[in-house]
Amino acid sequence: MDFLRKLLFLPEQASTIAKEIDWLHYSVILITFAGVFLITGVSAVFCILYRSRRPRRPDERRPPGPTPPLWAEIGLIAGLFALFVAWWGVGFWQYVRLTEPPSDTYDVYVSAKQWMWKFAYPSGSHTINTLYVPEQRPVKLLMTSRDVIHSFFVPEFRLKFDVVPGRYHSVWFTATKPGAYKILCAEYCGTDHSRMRGEVVALTASDFDRFLEQDGGGGPGDPESMSANASEPSLSLRGQTAAAKYGCLRCHSVDGSPHIGPTFLGLFNARVPLEHGGEIVADAAYLTESMMDPQLKLHRGYGPVMPSYLGYLQPGEVSALVEMIKSLRHPPASAPLQLPANRTFPIPDAPPLRPNAQESSP
Ligand code: CUA
Repeated sequence: MDFLRKLLFLPEQASTIAKEIDWLHYSVILITFAGVFLITGVSAVFCILYRSRRPRRPDERRPPGPTPPLWAEIGLIAGLFALFVAWWGVGFWQYVRLTEPPSDTYDVYVSAKQWMWKFAYPSGSHTINTLYVPEQRPVKLLMTSRDVIHSFFVPEFRLKFDVVPGRYHSVWFTATKPGAYKILCAEYCGTDHSRMRGEVVALTASDFDRFLEQDGGGGPGDPESMSANASEPSLSLRGQTAAAKYGCLRCHSVDGSPHIGPTFLGLFNARVPLEHGGEIVADAAYLTESMMDPQLKLHRGYGPVMPSYLGYLQPGEVSALVEMIKSLRHPPASAPLQLPANRTFPIPDAPPLRPNAQESSP
């Protein structure tokens, strides 16, 4: 099958999903090529066999040719339709798999802007244009954009996903071998779109641990791309700062006690009953959506009082808030959250809300 891959000029397969996606690609290409050759061949044979012969007399009519039975025509059309639907079904199934990560992923927050990629790791370190991931371990990317729509594309992983301002999309992959793989932006996003490139560096487990220990200081790759330093607080700690800055804790408690809004304790990945019926899992996507458009999927039993934070929260702050809520899971995560349980958290008097220029013009 490697022959087919080379024949089609596909890059190497460096993620677990790449093989499956290529299989669909091969079958679509091979079947359509077989169809084209069959039709061309049959047409050529028929052109010779049934070519027009000059009538002997001007009024001579040629006898009508045989017509295929109706069932054959219906069968052919139905067969082609079924084939198309089968391809679509397999493709859709692959898409759903890409967007439904396993539970034990390593999460990285991705924020795109004109014209760079920023990656924030739960440990607090962050890198620009170079994404470090462990090999053989599922990695989930939570992606958003600060300005316009970009598209995160890693050809070797067969991974391409739009990155949209104001929304978080999650997608996951498992890198199968260590190495460096190109990241391209696959959505035209302005002057330097073609230069909005980056690199995924898949490290062995021990190298990745070393990268985290060094907190981004001088891992393999371009040292220019590393901007973290050892004194950087973890993401969930930065989430606490953001929660204080935006007054989140005036309505949301962190100790499980009911307040104006739902408590953050145990909220992450919990099933939330919705005001208009049904329920939803409070994952990163839902939490983010609720910061941007709180009334859209309102938690049952709570009033529609929360304002939208779209245009106020920086993407980095959103991911930090999500990490903070994640750290308040039941039972408490291994690293205890350093939040006072009695809500004596510093609370600002006035809402600090002032739209920042970058965010308000998506
Ligand atoms: Cu970002 Cu194109």
